[in-house]
Amino acid sequence: MSETGSHENVSDENLPSEQAQAHGAVEKADDPFADPGLPPHEHRIQDIDERAAKRSERTVALMFTVSMLATVAFIASYVAFPIDKIVYVWPLGRVSILNLALGLTLGIALFFIGAGAVHWARTLMSDEEMVDERHAVAADPETEAKVKADFVQGAKESGFGRRKLIRNTMFGAVALVPLSGVVLLRDLGPLPEDKLTHTLWRKGKLLVNENTNEPLRPEDVSVGSLTFARPEGLEHDDEEFNNEIAKAALMIVRLEPGDIKDKKELDWSHEGIVAYSKICTHVGCPVSLYEQQTHHVLCPCHQSTFDLSDGARVIFGPAGHPLPQLKISVNKDGYLEAQGDFEEPVGPAYWERKR
Ligand code: FES
Repeated sequence: MSETGSHENVSDENLPSEQAQAHGAVEKADDPFADPGLPPHEHRIQDIDERAAKRSERTVALMFTVSMLATVAFIASYVAFPIDKIVYVWPLGRVSILNLALGLTLGIALFFIGAGAVHWARTLMSDEEMVDERHAVAADPETEAKVKADFVQGAKESGFGRRKLIRNTMFGAVALVPLSGVVLLRDLGPLPEDKLTHTLWRKGKLLVNENTNEPLRPEDVSVGSLTFARPEGLEHDDEEFNNEIAKAALMIVRLEPGDIKDKKELDWSHEGIVAYSKICTHVGCPVSLYEQQTHHVLCPCHQSTFDLSDGARVIFGPAGHPLPQLKISVNKDGYLEAQGDFEEPVGPAYWERKR
C-alpha cells in the first residue's frame, strides 16, 4: 500500500498538527497510529534572555569553583589533621576528624563537578530536539563527515569555546580532583630501610617463654612439644611490641638429634632443640600446627608445610622459602640464648629480598 493510501484511511482530527508535521511527523501505510512528531520547541529563559544566560554561566562557574576549593581543603585536611584525632560529631558519634574531613571535602569536590556539568547542560547547552534516522553501523564517508560536522556544531552550540569562564573553571576543577589521590601517595612512605631484614634477636638474648614470661632452660622443652618464645626485654606493653613480635616470634621444638637431617640445623641447635621463625614465608601467618611424628609444622592459612627435621624446608603449599632458623646455645647460667639475629629476612618474600 502506498503512502497516499494511508492519508485516505486516517481522519483529519487524528493527524498531527501542521507544526508537528513540520517537526517530522511520518505516517506509514500499515501503521494504525500516526506518528505525532515532536512537540513545538519551547525556549528556555536562557535562550531568550542574555542576562539569564549570564546568571546561569556564573552559577556553573561558582559550582566548579566550589569544587576546586573543596579539593584544596581536602589536601589541607590531609596535612593538618592527625590520623588519630577523634572528635564527637552528631549524629555520627565519635569519628576520626581526618577521615571525616577527607570524606566531606572529596564528596563536595566531586558533587560540584557533576552539579556544574548538569546545570550547564540543562540551562545553556542546546536543548533542541531532533530526529535522527537510524543508519547502518558502519558509517559511510558522508555519514562520517556529517558526524564531524555535527560534533563541531555541538561544540559551537554548547558554548564551549565562547564561554571561557565555564570552560576554564571546569578544566580547573577536573584537573585538581586527581591531586587528592596524589597526596595519598605519601602513605606509601617512609621506606622500611633495613627494618625488614633485622629483628630484636642479638647474641646473648635469652629466649623467653611466650606463655610463662620466664626465660627458657633446655629442660623446659620436651620432645614432641611446641613452645613459642620472644626475645628477652620485649614486653607486651611496649609501644613497638606488635611490630617487633611480628618479626621476632620464635617456635621451639626438641627433636632427637639423630632425626635432624640437615647438618647446619644440627650445628645451630642445642641437644636437639631447634628454634625457627614462627612467621610463615608465604604471606606471614603464624605457623602453629606441629605434628611430632613427622616433625612437620603446618601454616593454617594456606596449608604450607615445613619439615623441621630438614632445615624447615617447604614440603607442601605456596610458601617460597624455608622458615629462617635462629642459632641458639645455652649460657653459663643454663638458659637458652640466641647466638645472633636470623641470617635471612623473616616472613614473606618481597622484591628487594636477596635470599
Ligand atoms: S601464610 Fe602460610 S601458607 Fe599462606
